[in-house]
Amino acid sequence: MPILSAGVALSICSADSLRERTSLDSDWKFYLGDTWGTGEKLDKAGVGAGPARVSFSDALWRTVDLPHDWVVELPFDEASDRSHGYKPVGPGYGTNSVGWYRRRFDLAAADRGKRLWLEFDGVYRDSRIFLNGYRIAHHESGYGSFRCDVTDVANYGHENVLAVRVDASQPEGWFYEGAGIYRHVWLEKTAPLAVAPDGTFVYTEFKNNSATGAATARIQTDLENSQNRAVEAKVEWEIAGPDGKVVATATASMHMDPWKHSTLMAIAPVPDPTLWSPESPRLYRLVTTIEADGQTVDRVETKFGIRTMAFDVNKGFMLNGRPYVIKGTCNHQDHAGVGVALPDALQNFRVAKLKEMGCNAIRTSHNAPTSELLEACDQLGMLVMDENRLLGSDAENLSELAAQVRRDRNHPSVFIWSLANEEEVQRTAAAGEVFGTMQRLVHGLDSTRLCTAAMNSWSGDKPDGFSTVMDVQGFNYLNNGDMDAFHRSNPEKPAIGTEEASAFYTRGVYTNTMTYDSAYDDNKPGYGATAEEWWKYYSARPWASGAFVWTGFDYRGEPSPFGWPNISSEFGIIDTCGFPKDVFYYYQSWWSGKTVLHLMPHWNWAGKEGQPIDVRCFSNCQEVELFLNGRSLGRKDIKKNSHLQWSVNYTPGTLVAKGCKDGRVIAEDKVETTGEPTGLRLTPDRQMIAADGADVSVVTVAVTDSAGRIVPIADNMVNYEISGPGKIIGVGNGDPACHEPDVYPSAPQTVSLPLTEWRMKLISDPQNRAGTAPEIADGDWQTADVKVDSGPLKPGESAIYRTHLSLSEKDLKAANTILDFGTIDDEGWVYVNGRLAGESHDWQLDPIFPVSQYLNAGDNVVAVVVKNNEGSGGLSHGVTLNTQYMPAPTRWKRSAFNGLAEVLVQSTHAAGEIKLTAHAGGLTDGMVAIRAQSKGD
Ligand code: GAL
Repeated sequence: MPILSAGVALSICSADSLRERTSLDSDWKFYLGDTWGTGEKLDKAGVGAGPARVSFSDALWRTVDLPHDWVVELPFDEASDRSHGYKPVGPGYGTNSVGWYRRRFDLAAADRGKRLWLEFDGVYRDSRIFLNGYRIAHHESGYGSFRCDVTDVANYGHENVLAVRVDASQPEGWFYEGAGIYRHVWLEKTAPLAVAPDGTFVYTEFKNNSATGAATARIQTDLENSQNRAVEAKVEWEIAGPDGKVVATATASMHMDPWKHSTLMAIAPVPDPTLWSPESPRLYRLVTTIEADGQTVDRVETKFGIRTMAFDVNKGFMLNGRPYVIKGTCNHQDHAGVGVALPDALQNFRVAKLKEMGCNAIRTSHNAPTSELLEACDQLGMLVMDENRLLGSDAENLSELAAQVRRDRNHPSVFIWSLANEEEVQRTAAAGEVFGTMQRLVHGLDSTRLCTAAMNSWSGDKPDGFSTVMDVQGFNYLNNGDMDAFHRSNPEKPAIGTEEASAFYTRGVYTNTMTYDSAYDDNKPGYGATAEEWWKYYSARPWASGAFVWTGFDYRGEPSPFGWPNISSEFGIIDTCGFPKDVFYYYQSWWSGKTVLHLMPHWNWAGKEGQPIDVRCFSNCQEVELFLNGRSLGRKDIKKNSHLQWSVNYTPGTLVAKGCKDGRVIAEDKVETTGEPTGLRLTPDRQMIAADGADVSVVTVAVTDSAGRIVPIADNMVNYEISGPGKIIGVGNGDPACHEPDVYPSAPQTVSLPLTEWRMKLISDPQNRAGTAPEIADGDWQTADVKVDSGPLKPGESAIYRTHLSLSEKDLKAANTILDFGTIDDEGWVYVNGRLAGESHDWQLDPIFPVSQYLNAGDNVVAVVVKNNEGSGGLSHGVTLNTQYMPAPTRWKRSAFNGLAEVLVQSTHAAGEIKLTAHAGGLTDGMVAIRAQSKGD
């Protein structure tokens, strides 16, 4: 094991053969429906059936970009599953539950000899992947990332056809799960000698786990030599600190036999390390460079953080040597407007919102997260309880779990693995064994973290089931059992609150109805607790490490405590859009360290004049004085972790709260009776986005009165129009009972252009394709009528037909362009600009060929070699070019809910100014400009 030395400069060398990672997110063809079976053709390899076949035409399918969740587009349906958000998908909804995706990509001839991988970050669910007719994967989990080595079946120097069948008919959870390729897809190319997928593991240790003095980095690199020859492999490691300066380097060499896998390791002292924590998320970078026989062939960068973690049976979780209380939230992965298909920017948006509240940890309930969420947590500073979906020690589940741990173990944000949630079998001996097997696997892959499980029933006496084996006891809900009894009888077992609260709140609502729960911190299920109840309980029990609130954000599905018409949950501290509910400020008061004063409810109670209104205040000041229209209603002391409450007879006007510390006013909040809605105000979270079709600006839409105040009871229908290089990808308003669509899919428009002015020439050899070359002169060929019923070729004759067509740049932007032939009698090979677009061997078909990818602006040449076997033959019944335009819809709408709505704006891959305008009957328009900026602008 080599020892790293400190202080060497970081050198980045370049070589053509270095790893390449390309996004395959854009331009997929999509079809919803279970029309072709599984696509498998098991009797013969490499062929496939239906869309898995290379020759299958997807020309009439929709074009979509990833990430994509087709369930967002489905209507709400009272007859379908409540827990999944009343969408007609899943058991009993065959047609809506299966989707096919297809995509083409070219590979250079020079790619032959490299190792090629397709990486799927997440497909919901049960996906079968085919490349060039070969089945390359069948992956069931809807949450795990997976890779397919496609080196053998790739088409080098040509086009490759990728087909994915997604089957969401079997749910995995009891919450909205979406469906489709809802995370990224990548094409990765490496040299034959390369770091194996997820083949880097770096972690640090301190003497006595003390987080002081020098750290020791331990590095592990898995190398693969995927070729027929042995090589002398050399690995160079460089560690750079948060300031970019190299703090350590090392090398190791080894002879690698053909087709062998080896692990190389190093130990590196990192003197005086800068520690990672949610409050100071400073990242280190490990650069691993591989040489084969003296040539640099691979380089992998791995971000990591230096920190210590431990669980103390009395002090609870310890970060960097000190007790660190988990102020956590559980979260599912969907967001308003987009379902589970979150653009990366939304991960950052959501993590930042939670941080604003003082939340320092996320539990990825109840599934493996996307890597981009972990990256956001690493960078912005958020701990993560990394949870899996399924309990099981069967080979498939263990392999899912291993992949999750290998993928996520370098992230400094991940502090614990959660291997199960509220399993019915959690207290049985067999489940304990299963858990033990899973935990052993995790420990084997990651010696730095402990495991837990979220249990909603436990023994207060002798531990049973999971509790007999798991590292850290996880408790779901203090009201589900006696946590103190467990702690007393298991004094050696550390603990953590895996789930708490499950209180219900609707943003901006202050009366319980059959659809909405008031936003006061009052409503909870039998097993649950209000924010104030659970937080007081945990604050008094440091050994329990803090806990995760169910939930940070509202999510679709599980509309507890209601059913239809509610389609999303109300457990969130924040709604599905990211708008805080009042309880956000309870947590912010006692979690964030900021001075907080928040007054509720709003002050628009027309019709309740003179009646008592329940006024409450979340604050961490020492005392608060309340004033109604300038008159003091008295001053109250705030007790730690509590709230204040007044009963105030309603008079329109202004209610002001002043928060004091040591007799000095340090904070003020007010609610005012607003006027009627008169206008709309649009506020983007970012006014500048990348022009990459992936970045997002989250625009808050507020309905305001003439003084610019948000009208907290306004529910106006707002219409949106977007212009410039931008598109709306989704809308929302946080109303848990709203059935308005989140997306407005484009309606295709088809334009048909008959291809005329054909010329033809008889040829003696139909194998001779010289006449298809676009550059040859065809002006003196005989003219041909392709609209005839048949002819003019005699049996055994062959001919070549040609025509020209001129297209503009605008024509080329269309989603689909198809050449539609009446009859090709008997056989034909269709060339566009010299490239084979397809062939037909059955004169009775009306063949169509997708040709978008072969066309260019200006002159285009279509050439068809026709071979007539018997009877009369030729091109007949006309040829048309059908162009399907899929204009991104520019007009959208969504009603406001209690004064607010949200619009998600993305660029259309082009730079420039995007204008979003909002109209609502009788109100002044709202407008905002967002700049889409190209790299380097
Ligand atoms: C928990 C469960 C969560 C969610 C929650 C609702 O028991 O773990 O997934 O269902 O209840 O209160």
